[in-house]
Amino acid sequence: MSDWAHSSADRATREGVAAEIRGWIPAAADSPIYSRLAAEVCEDPVLLDVVARIDNVPPMNLLFGAVQFLRGGALPSVPYGEFRAFVLAHEEEIVRIGCTRRTQTNEARRCAVILPFVANAVAGFGDGARAHAIDIGTSAGLNLCLDRFAYDYGAGVVGDSALVLGCENRGGFALPSGVPQFASRTGLDLSPIDVEDADAVAWLEALVWPEHADRLKRLRAAIAIRRQTPVTMIAGDALETLAGVVEALPAGEPALIFHTIALYQLPAEAQATLDDIVASLAETRPLARVSFEPRHGSLFPLIHVGARPYDSPAVAQGHHHGAWLDIPPTPAPLAV
Ligand SMILES: C[S@@+](CC[C@H](N)C(=O)[O-])C[C@H]1O[C@@H](n2cnc3c(N)ncnc32)[C@H](O)[C@@H]1O
Repeated sequence: MSDWAHSSADRATREGVAAEIRGWIPAAADSPIYSRLAAEVCEDPVLLDVVARIDNVPPMNLLFGAVQFLRGGALPSVPYGEFRAFVLAHEEEIVRIGCTRRTQTNEARRCAVILPFVANAVAGFGDGARAHAIDIGTSAGLNLCLDRFAYDYGAGVVGDSALVLGCENRGGFALPSGVPQFASRTGLDLSPIDVEDADAVAWLEALVWPEHADRLKRLRAAIAIRRQTPVTMIAGDALETLAGVVEALPAGEPALIFHTIALYQLPAEAQATLDDIVASLAETRPLARVSFEPRHGSLFPLIHVGARPYDSPAVAQGHHHGAWLDIPPTPAPLAV
């Protein structure tokens, strides 16, 4: 798991907070503004104390998200002093937002990273099979529209949609000729985002990194499609809701469970419990699971397939926001 994941947080000392931020900075390489400001925060005891008050993960996503939310738009490349003054002038509100909202970045382009594996899993259910899709940590449910987006991997567009998700197929993976068919779509989230709620949508937009105008455009287009797509959203801890959702599906019909950049928010024990739940559900009906998650020892999130996905090696790695898909990194040799 990457250093910015749940279990590594040590906020007891400023050194611990600075170490957590330094571990997060490589994951924010696509945002020079955030990377630069975060590096300066590491050297600033006053702002480290503000970050330490954000009892949530990853704190820098929440700090920057809160700043953009309060400013009402993308943070320009301001001098550090200006950023610092804004944070201190709004400290209480920023800490309140950071502790009460969640990092719920919903990036539709992650669908492009998992599509080849999802399509393969659905094909495995049989000719013309339609799967009941269940997205764990769904945020606003955008990725449940995987079957309503189109995809451009550089060799012709797959699907037909107003939103075409571009993704570089660096690993040369076999691509489906069309998008898979979903029989139903269910999203599980501790705190589902209602795409009809302007405040909730403003928070989603605030989570988009400031330089990423293309992502903001994509987010808005995906939300428009999501508003036209039937999705059942279930609030609550997926550990408590998943089994009931799968058991309520028509007997014998296939279930497709997927999750993208969500389980890192769960402690390791909870992730193991989730594996047990899925493995036991897989004994009751045709079931596939596709995981796209940060994992130990890999800078980029990995794709694993299977009811207990981490029992087998990763099948691919992908860019956090879906810009590319590649073969998994070679594991480092064990030190002897
Ligand atoms: C970073 S967002 C990712 C959203 C989406 N999967 C994507 O890739 O665009 C992670 C989501 O997981 C949800 N989450 C975290 N822990 C959860 C749990 N135990 N049960 C259900 N959802 C959870 C959070 O509320 C958040 O919306």
